[in-house]
Amino acid sequence: MTDLSQLSSEIASALAAIHYPARPEGLYQPVQYTLASGGKRLRPALCLAACQALCGDAKRAVNQALAIEMFHNFTLIHDDVMDGSDTRRGRPTVFAKWGDVQAILSGDALLTMATMRLCTDAGNRLPDLLQTFNETAMGVYEGQQFDMDFEDRDDVTIDEYIEMIRLKTSVLLGGALMLGAIMADADAETRRALYEYGENLGLAFQLRDDWLDTFGDLHVFGKPIGGDIVNRKKTWLFITAMNEAPAAMAHALTDNPGRADLVAAVTEVYNSLNLSERCDALVGEYCDKAVNALSRTAMSDDDRSWFADLARNLCSRQS
Ligand code: IPE
Ligand code: IPE
Ligand code: MG
Ligand code: MG
Ligand code: MG
Repeated sequence: MTDLSQLSSEIASALAAIHYPARPEGLYQPVQYTLASGGKRLRPALCLAACQALCGDAKRAVNQALAIEMFHNFTLIHDDVMDGSDTRRGRPTVFAKWGDVQAILSGDALLTMATMRLCTDAGNRLPDLLQTFNETAMGVYEGQQFDMDFEDRDDVTIDEYIEMIRLKTSVLLGGALMLGAIMADADAETRRALYEYGENLGLAFQLRDDWLDTFGDLHVFGKPIGGDIVNRKKTWLFITAMNEAPAAMAHALTDNPGRADLVAAVTEVYNSLNLSERCDALVGEYCDKAVNALSRTAMSDDDRSWFADLARNLCSRQS
């Protein structure tokens, strides 16, 4: 199997080669800025790796991999408007740099660019690709709406949180793998198992993202620390702290009008409950579930190890 870094850099070069119309600048500049701003390129790498592991030819899925990365970047541009986030990948967000009008429109443009790519050289696989892509997209939107709804609710349960992150994050990882498997003409059981790997990997991935939002390092993570606390995002950390130390959380949330004090006070409650280590353990459990699903895929042991190593590395990622 090709190295993850090589798969990611192949995606980056293909994105860099895209030609944009000169006008209207307001539409294409933010698209170009976003696609050139880096990121891990995880989802397209999963798509290419699935195709390579299942038919020996990663290149066959290159357009679908680009589609999924464009879709991902579209969701991030809109997510930053929704979350009021100023920094991503260590740079100003489109929303911060150009405002919400350009963020909405350039996000729309990226979504359409994604569907155009999805259909390129798809042949008779197009109906399956479109069904997976559209179901994935609807899942993400549902998850994002739950995420926003939960900001205003204080009774969100852990089960509701897990379902919300399954929708907003897992279905895209599962969908990326599924598109690669469709391009490889993989059998139904392999597709299902690989999707299950992606689903559990996605849960671990979002739990880790939420952990990094509190316990990460801004300069490595590339996103400001504490945004989830400020937005009252119902993360596993927040819900668990509300369940186990309601009085301390109520004090932390009401006694600290300033951002830095609020983030410090809530983090202190998390620390008093040992939530960093406990969240890490939960990430490990979902990672194990992801790895176990690989045994039901029709791929070589070497390729299974590649996907297992990727999952383990993502579970301890710092960025
Ligand atoms: C960010 O995804 C959105 C989440 C699901 C947490 P990534 O962490 O994969 O973002 P980039 O593409 O690497 O910047
Ligand atoms: C990510 O949720 C989900 C999507 C973008 C669909 P977050 O809001 O936690 O993502 P970041 O932390 O801003 O990347
Ligand atoms: Mg966000
Ligand atoms: Mg969000
Ligand atoms: Mg986040």
